[in-house]
Amino acid sequence: MNNELTLPDYRQQTPEVAARFARLLERPIALEVRGLSKNFETPRGVITALDDVSFSVHKRELLSVIGPSGCGKSTLVRILAGLETPTAGELRVYGEPVSGPGSDRGMVFQGYTLFPWRTVKENVMFGPRMAGQSDFTAASEAREWIELVGLSKFENAYPHQLSGGMKQRVAIARALANQPRVLFMDEPFGALDAQTRSQMQSYLLEIWKNVDITIVFITHDLDEAVFLSDRILVLDANPGRVREVVEVPVPRPRDLGQLFLPSFMGVRKHIDHLIHPPGKAQKEAPVLRLAVSDPDVV
Ligand SMILES: Nc1ncnc2c1ncn2[C@@H]1O[C@H](COP(=O)(O)OP(=O)(O)OP(=O)(O)O)[C@@H](O)[C@H]1O
Ligand SMILES: [Mg+2]
Repeated sequence: MNNELTLPDYRQQTPEVAARFARLLERPIALEVRGLSKNFETPRGVITALDDVSFSVHKRELLSVIGPSGCGKSTLVRILAGLETPTAGELRVYGEPVSGPGSDRGMVFQGYTLFPWRTVKENVMFGPRMAGQSDFTAASEAREWIELVGLSKFENAYPHQLSGGMKQRVAIARALANQPRVLFMDEPFGALDAQTRSQMQSYLLEIWKNVDITIVFITHDLDEAVFLSDRILVLDANPGRVREVVEVPVPRPRDLGQLFLPSFMGVRKHIDHLIHPPGKAQKEAPVLRLAVSDPDVV
């Protein structure tokens, strides 16, 4: 039986999903990226990490960026967060040109970036305090964000007392406490075990449902991208260019049972083929021999 034939075309959408996308694309553009390029001067010459990348993310959209290792995902998100300057191109948040870091954009990284000497509450209060709020207001706001990520019982704990997943929930609360208009997440669950990772994906969708926030989520995990996203930006490598922006035809609310829906598997297969063109892998993959071949060993 050929399973592939039974999968629907990834462009097929049910009327509900099509209507959802029509509404999404009518929403204001939260983040607009135009002609973004980034060259790195290295001793071995110029590396073009990003080449003429353009896309828009709409208000309250969750857009993932996926692509092979080295295609420029982290470079892209660092430029969007203002941590790196582009060689060319323009970035607008709700129509306003931006350069450099700003509280309108928040960031959650893969590594745990909490202050180890501060409690959960103090970590989350940090941004509001820096923004000039009194300790009292910052603490009460921090409590709300901590409650949102389900860690109220741990507000006085230190990061080393928390699991990896809990630390990332604090990192999300801390980023949200600055009330950014767009949140960038660079492989935030990449260091977690498979079960915690899948729980965190559900948590993130729950948080996103309750907070008015636009998310750009970087991942190299295809199931994660499909599970979370409205649309997926597929990047090519060397140089990093936009290959396609794919609308995920899976209805919301999402749950793990949908991993086996034909619409889920159809779009997954399409993106998998974009990233790993069929037939190419065998030709290019190096053969690594760890032992001398022995006809008696199968
Ligand atoms: N500071 C730098 N100096 C020189 N080259 C860099 C620098 N940062 C990134 N690069 C190069 O730019 C390209 C894109 O790197 P980047 O880290 O953005 O890729 P990525 O898609 O995030 O990869 P991964 O999936 O492995 O995280 C790579 O070729 C990388 O070597
Ligand atoms: Mg990266």
